[in-house]
Amino acid sequence: MADKLIFIVDKNEAICKEVTAWLQEIGFQAKVFEDTELCFNTIDQNPSAICLDMNTSGPSGLSGLEFLKRLRLTNRDIPIMVVTENGDLDSAVEVMKLGAFDYMVKPVEKARLITNIQRAIAMHTMVHKIDRLRGEIEKKHVYKNIIGQSEAIQRVFTQIEEVAEININVLVEGESGTGKELAAKAIHYGSAYKTGPFIAINCGAIPESLQESEFFGHEKGSFTGADHARIGKLEYANNGSLFLDEVGEMSQEMQVKLLRFLQDKTFERLGGNKKINVDLRIISATNRKLEQEVKRGKFREDLYYRLVVYPITMPPLRDRKEDIPLLVNYFLKKFKNEISKIITSVSSSVMESFMKYDWKGNVRQLENVIYRSMVATRTETIELENLPSEIQQNTDHNFITQDTSQNQPTHFATPEPSKAVTATPTIQEMEKNALIKALKISAGNIEQAAKSLGISRATCYRKIKKYQID
Ligand SMILES: Nc1ncnc2c1ncn2[C@@H]1O[C@H](COP(=O)(O)OP(=O)(O)OP(=O)(O)O)[C@@H](O)[C@H]1O
Ligand SMILES: [Mg+2]
Repeated sequence: MADKLIFIVDKNEAICKEVTAWLQEIGFQAKVFEDTELCFNTIDQNPSAICLDMNTSGPSGLSGLEFLKRLRLTNRDIPIMVVTENGDLDSAVEVMKLGAFDYMVKPVEKARLITNIQRAIAMHTMVHKIDRLRGEIEKKHVYKNIIGQSEAIQRVFTQIEEVAEININVLVEGESGTGKELAAKAIHYGSAYKTGPFIAINCGAIPESLQESEFFGHEKGSFTGADHARIGKLEYANNGSLFLDEVGEMSQEMQVKLLRFLQDKTFERLGGNKKINVDLRIISATNRKLEQEVKRGKFREDLYYRLVVYPITMPPLRDRKEDIPLLVNYFLKKFKNEISKIITSVSSSVMESFMKYDWKGNVRQLENVIYRSMVATRTETIELENLPSEIQQNTDHNFITQDTSQNQPTHFATPEPSKAVTATPTIQEMEKNALIKALKISAGNIEQAAKSLGISRATCYRKIKKYQID
């Protein structure tokens, strides 16, 4: 702990000298202030801790209490050891409320002061470390608004990170609703073009006759109805990214023109003859297998190879079902304000049907189902009857209750066969059986049982108590 800087705020010169010596003995540096204001003005030196005599105000008149309040307003979390002449309990409480680490009555013993300072610094460092780790853990499950902890989606995070920094053309493939646009935005916002615009163009939604003008813009009078000159998406996207959504839907004619643009990075507006240069990044997306479209002669091979320099495939939700609890939790939070209802979880049978459902519409479909169910729900938990019927039909009862608010992974535990075949067991019975089985396999080791069920140790204990399992 060498080189830590400690501020001492005290009018008593002898005490200051003594404390300075104590601190130097353990390799700390001390800086003494006779005035709280002066100390406050020097706070940018970021001391590791402050020893503050509450009776020090100095010529500025800034009391110890005011000093603490002001410091709190700056949002700095420097540990403070408060020292007073008298052990008045009320002021002790007030001082601790203001975030002081400890409250000591004079005369202060060397051992206590030193231990407290060391402990405060250690705790402070630990809190920061925990915050940082927590940030890293959260980052793992959320990457630029894309949620997921499955291996498949984590691979996508890595690919986005890899490709964002280099300006090569990316093609994002994947079924509808898998997050292709989210991925494209993540690439844009992770790239050198992030300060420029992200312009999306849906190639499937523009009539063939208007595609060229949409891309390149046009001059006034260039075709019937072109009353004004208009700039196209390529110009809008200058210094940013152009997102070619549903690129497989682009007309053959437009494919040729886009290829020409990609070759020399210049174009002319429709009806114009001035060469326009733009600097942008191209990200395309398709929910068709573009390579097959090439084989079928629907998409130009030369353009395909230009666009697909770096391919990213978004995995369908059915192939990464372990992400469902995280996504459910995310959407419950996302819609909380919009719907103005406090709905914190989904029932275990709802989660079970989600885990079994095929999700042809992928994350978008899950998002819509959560939204609609939240609208339909009157309690804090979404129940099976709030779900669309096609999802309700997916239910059976071989699972353990999920508490989505804790982001726990879902785990299916099969109940004991002999009990499972008896007439429709209740959810509680199923849960109890799963627990008994897990405990049996782990030879009573609660930690292991909890792990195999995908629940926390505390939840496991609670449930053992609830079902009186011994
Ligand atoms: N991993 C994810 N985490 C959070 N939200 C997601 C995720 N994937 C998709 N979504 C959400 O699902 C919806 C659909 O995503 P997006 O528009 O990016 O999909 P898409 O693949 O472009 O779909 P389409 O092919 O139909 O255009 C959006 O509301 C998006 O925010
Ligand atoms: Mg899309």
